[in-house]
Amino acid sequence: MICLGLEGTAWSLSAGVVDERDVIVLENDPYVPEKGGIHPREAAQHHSERVGPLLGRVFKRLGELGIKPEDIDVIAFSQGPGMGPCLRVVATAARVLSLKLRKPLVGVNHCLAHVEVGRWKCDARNPVTLYVSGGNSQIIARRGNYRVFGETLDIGVGNAIDKLARHMGLPHPGGPRIEELAKKGEKYYELPYVVKGMDFSFSGLVTAAKKLYDSGVRAEDVAFSFQETAFAMLVEVTERALAYLGLDEVLIAGGVGANSRLREMLKIMCEDREARFYSPPKELLGDNGAMIAYTGLLMYSHGYETPVENSHVKPDFRIEEVEVLWD
Ligand code: ATP
Ligand code: FE2
Repeated sequence: MICLGLEGTAWSLSAGVVDERDVIVLENDPYVPEKGGIHPREAAQHHSERVGPLLGRVFKRLGELGIKPEDIDVIAFSQGPGMGPCLRVVATAARVLSLKLRKPLVGVNHCLAHVEVGRWKCDARNPVTLYVSGGNSQIIARRGNYRVFGETLDIGVGNAIDKLARHMGLPHPGGPRIEELAKKGEKYYELPYVVKGMDFSFSGLVTAAKKLYDSGVRAEDVAFSFQETAFAMLVEVTERALAYLGLDEVLIAGGVGANSRLREMLKIMCEDREARFYSPPKELLGDNGAMIAYTGLLMYSHGYETPVENSHVKPDFRIEEVEVLWD
């Protein structure tokens, strides 16, 4: 079976085509704000202007591989969580495709897609997933359905990094720039480490790091101190979830998962506990259409379908709401 998946919960506009074995085509056209953060309406405007040409490129590449539009079996789209205006553009495009090609539609939970694409590509069985992106920071594992065992009480860690970067005059997205600066950091300054039970919080950390920067501390040391503090919080809770659930696999997901220091810290923790550390290839780590396509395929083959009349977007869609019928 072949599934075409559309992703567009926030800045990323992406279409992927997969079959059970692999990603066949992946095309991206991300929205990059000129300055400042992401404006939902501007991002949605970008998506609505670009989704047609993006799909044109996908069908062209499929044609070159001898795959015709009618060969697609299922259309999947990111139904939530995310920014309402962005979600609506992508849902509309998916409905049009479904009606035009007369193929079933499947609405996919974006967080679930991050987890399932990682399990697929890494052959992970039952991992504790650390899902860290701009908008989300969650520790997810399966107990029947998926459950969130810990999460941010305020902003996502990527958002926190981007806020600090912006304050330091660095362009969006700040993650890779803060990472480069942090590599040259030498001195650790203590910053608020906030873990409450299994949850954590980043907004106080951002405020304190901004103040540290304003007080004249070197940007490299601010970035270093920030990363060490924020990532230690995430690794602590991931480790606690592993111990509590008696599991031995950790999967990283989300754009912040590209950070080499976070990966190093997770690997060290996993080695200590004799757990395996898994990471999908970089193009499947951040938001992408292939993860939606794969999860749509998985759901469809287990009996899921989203009739067009039930395909409204869900900006607050939680992973726990999905009934998981597969292994
Ligand atoms: P979601 O909709 O799941 O919240 P998102 O829209 O934030 O996702 P992602 O691609 O998952 O998109 O993540 C983007 C975030 O990842 C940005 O905040 C960016 O700064 C951060 N990021 C990217 N590369 C790095 C890096 N090397 N180190 C730290 N953060 C990074
Ligand atoms: Fe995401």
